Amino acid sequence: MLARVVLLGPPGAGKGTQAKLLAERLDLVHLASGDLFRSNMAQGTPLGRRAQEYVTQGLLVPDNLTIAMVLEAISSLDQGQSFLLDGFPRTVVQAEALDEALGERRQPLDLTLLLSVPREELVQRLGGRLTCRSCQAPYQVRSSPLRQPGLCDICGGELYQREDDTPEAVSKRLEVYHTQTAPLVDYYQQQGKLVEVDGLGTVEEVHARLSKALEAVVGSRAGHNRI
Ligand code: AP5
Ligand code: MG
Repeated sequence: MLARVVLLGPPGAGKGTQAKLLAERLDLVHLASGDLFRSNMAQGTPLGRRAQEYVTQGLLVPDNLTIAMVLEAISSLDQGQSFLLDGFPRTVVQAEALDEALGERRQPLDLTLLLSVPREELVQRLGGRLTCRSCQAPYQVRSSPLRQPGLCDICGGELYQREDDTPEAVSKRLEVYHTQTAPLVDYYQQQGKLVEVDGLGTVEEVHARLSKALEAVVGSRAGHNRI
């Protein structure tokens, strides 16, 4: 099957949760800009040191740094490899840079999936999230039963609360999403590549909707449908 896919949605919509499932079940590479920044920050690389202050405050890392990091990750993939972008692009400048780079590879984007979740639910989810230090899998203290408390079910890594999951940073991230990232909905709608998917319900229910949306566009371009 295709796919070069963007998973778009506000903080806490479930992008990381769903991207991990789609990657595992549909043989896609999951590229998450936030995960890349956090692993650079944990390793203390020059990029990580530059990104730190933005990430901690819930602000976007400048476009030039972000675009270079993600395009390098894409260019290291095999030509025929399907991939799913989580958290990138987040500005129109990033979306244009992505289109240009994929155009040069003659592999344009197939689809953008927009995960929609109301604000109150986003705030609740982020307030109860734990993240694996090692593989960055997200968990939910309200609903994820863990095999071993405090440890990741997938890799055994330590679970922690992200620095940007404080109430102040969450509110900043939501504001930033509405001002800087939401314009991408129009951007991809105009390209006929946007499908909006309801992000409420269980993880499996949302996964089923996303899988259906992906299958529906195999071989044809998507309009703006709501599933
Ligand atoms: P990033 O890591 O991308 O954070 P984000 O967009 O704010 O999104 P989150 O990871 O918080 O949420 P998610 O949608 O992945 O939800 P999750 O699956 O974890 O970016 C962090 C920072 O990096 C940015 O603020 C910025 O500084 C920088 N950055 C990254 N990309 C950038 C870019 N392109 N340009 C510039 N700067 C950039 O789920 C959330 C919680 O809900 C979890 O607890 C999960 O278990 C739970 N959950 C998931 N699904 C459900 C469900 N169906 N029902 C109930 N709970 C659920
Ligand atoms: Mg995430």
